[in-house]
Amino acid sequence: GPFASAAGAPGGFPTVRPRRLRRTPALRRLVAETHVRPEQLVLPVFVAEGATEQRPVASMPGVVQHTRDSLRAEVVRAAEAGLGGVMLFGVPASKDPVGSGATDPQGILNVAIADVVAEVGDALPVMSDLCLDEFTDHGHCGLLDSRGAVDNDATLEAYAAMALAQADAGVDLVGPSGMMDGQVGVVRTALDAAGHTDVGILAYAAKYASAFYGPFREAVDSSLVGDRRTYQQDPANAREGVREALLDVAEGADLVMVKPALGYLDVLQRVAEAVPVPVAAYQVSGEYAMLEAAAAHGWIDREAAILESLVSIRRAGADIVLTYWALEVARLLR
Ligand code: PBG
Repeated sequence: GPFASAAGAPGGFPTVRPRRLRRTPALRRLVAETHVRPEQLVLPVFVAEGATEQRPVASMPGVVQHTRDSLRAEVVRAAEAGLGGVMLFGVPASKDPVGSGATDPQGILNVAIADVVAEVGDALPVMSDLCLDEFTDHGHCGLLDSRGAVDNDATLEAYAAMALAQADAGVDLVGPSGMMDGQVGVVRTALDAAGHTDVGILAYAAKYASAFYGPFREAVDSSLVGDRRTYQQDPANAREGVREALLDVAEGADLVMVKPALGYLDVLQRVAEAVPVPVAAYQVSGEYAMLEAAAAHGWIDREAAILESLVSIRRAGADIVLTYWALEVARLLR
């Protein structure tokens, strides 16, 4: 008859019914293509130099700047929850133009790495942000030249020294996040020359100049005035994100990252198809803050929205997700 087709029986009723596989939770579980598991999640943590009590980050409800002691307790919880790792950020008590605290073995990030490694050993991969922005008084990710522009190659030397300080402290993976050209290659060469051949590199490969880092700037007491558009990528460009990831792989990155996550799922998918290494995505501070804010107003189902955001990031191609909800989600999944 006029209505007969592969999808439709005579009379217009469908013989192909995708809803059959959605009928019960057990059927839906059977056919789910994507899973979120605790071991895929990495918890970013902040530790403040000289802090004697935790300091809440107002724009990120539930997130704090840790003391050295509270950080140790937090990473034990992370290991017990079976997380994939922790990413450490230091908040120094003082800053200068060259970010000396980043390379000082007694600098907050380096002592915190040693604290954490002493606490969890090989049970939990320990990662550290390798960037100068928390340590410089001007707040940029690199050193400035006489005209106030970020000097790429002078910054590379500082990153090499920073990588050695973090490796000496015992870190498993360094996370160069400053978007300087050649940063992965320089860090790899410096680590190898010092005998740190086992220290890996999680490269922030496709990192966009994003308004969604706003709450993070509060979390690390950033002093930045202006923006990072001369080094972080233009949100308009996806092909360039693939190029950046391929360059980082060529320079020796062990894993690459796309950041932010939710607004960049297309970039994530393209990078995941292009590279032969594991791919991480960073669900950044602004993604966290906007969902928490909507939930606080009762405008969104908080837990469902968190899980949906994570499954979407995984579906787009992330093997690993950095998320401030890592601990909570690991508990939810259990
Ligand atoms: C640089 C760095 C930033 C973030 C992670 N590493 C800030 C920036 O690039 O401006 C942002 C993370 C977030 O927003 O959650 N050290």
